[in-house]
Amino acid sequence: MSQNTVATDCLNVREYEARAKTNLAEMAYDYYAGGSWDEITLRENCTAFERLAIMPHMLVDLTEFDMSTEILGEKISMPIIIAPTAFHGLATPEGEKATARAAYRAQTIMTLSTLANFSIEEVQAAAPGPKWFQLYVYKDREVTKDLVQRAEAEGYKALVLTVDSPLLGRREKDVRNRFRLPDNCQLGHFVGGKLANLPKDVEDSGLAHYIASLYDVSLSWKHVEWLSEITKLPILLKGILRADDAALGVKNGAAGIIVSNHGGRQLDSAPSTISVLSEIVEAVDDRVPVLIDSGIRRGTDVFKAIALGAKAVLTGRPVLWGLASDGENGAVEVLELLRSELKLTMQLSGCPKLKSITPDMVRQKKPFWALAKD
Ligand code: FNR
Ligand code: LAC
Repeated sequence: MSQNTVATDCLNVREYEARAKTNLAEMAYDYYAGGSWDEITLRENCTAFERLAIMPHMLVDLTEFDMSTEILGEKISMPIIIAPTAFHGLATPEGEKATARAAYRAQTIMTLSTLANFSIEEVQAAAPGPKWFQLYVYKDREVTKDLVQRAEAEGYKALVLTVDSPLLGRREKDVRNRFRLPDNCQLGHFVGGKLANLPKDVEDSGLAHYIASLYDVSLSWKHVEWLSEITKLPILLKGILRADDAALGVKNGAAGIIVSNHGGRQLDSAPSTISVLSEIVEAVDDRVPVLIDSGIRRGTDVFKAIALGAKAVLTGRPVLWGLASDGENGAVEVLELLRSELKLTMQLSGCPKLKSITPDMVRQKKPFWALAKD
């Protein structure tokens, strides 16, 4: 990967992806970009956004413009948060430390993955600014508890409990590539211990193997209860796709719901997230914030998610493409690009504030065969 690449000639997220692809090893690009099985959900995540039209208002005074928001008491400059993604060390030598600095520069929240290449402490020391910690539950409760306590001690503001991955979805590209980490990359939170490396000698994805052997397949509502007993941090549930699960989540004390299909990497044929957002928002009924990720590539996508009731969105791969294009600066550029696209979308739709973006501003496009019948 080259750190000298000037990335400013990328006009949109897709161009950052193309730039990232030329900088990344094939195994890393396939891991970042890929989805599970036939990648139906991966594709659907983006096409579902395309099927929504925005119904703009005209002749609205835009002089007073503001897209800042507050989430779980944290004021952020835009409704775009960094999703937890593993192994930023594959994109840039500074890994998650670069991401933390980018989040701080863009004045938003970074969510640090359990599978980061730099530790909870190193990432906190890299930059000030609010951070959340994403938790995978290890079978060994002491390992899980230790992660939670370290995040809490370092001042992370919330736990993001990922609930869609008791096992890893089967990503065929990673199986074919026998995905593993290069020698200079370890699992940052566990350096010096037995959990710091993915197996290198398996005829499969090393990550799938690691997860199958260490994560707790008994993960259930009992663990949510247990977690809330061992931490004071608010817990967001990430990976909810059904209204009834969202309601159960709120009942079990969740401080937020993240509607996510893991970027099409877990259950293939799971629905696109934007298609289930409204029913989940309705079930949650303003008791806790609802967030969404998966497939957001343009400011227009963020606008559509806000219209359908999301408090904010999380962005996964776009930040990885920024990091792989030009490290910290590339990640900042991608975040600023999404911000400027959202701003222009709001301005061209007559929405000077986030609360002006109401559900009636988004309409499902009719397929061509339905139009023909009109
Ligand atoms: C992820 N995601 C993820 N989620 C999580 O809870 N913990 C993790 O460690 C990871 N790791 C990870 C690695 C890579 C390479 C990707 C692409 C994704 C899922 C992530 O948080 C988010 O749900 C998706 O990335 C959202 O979809 P988009 O924005 O990538 O389309
Ligand atoms: C992934 C895991 C680590 O999507 O969440 O690769």
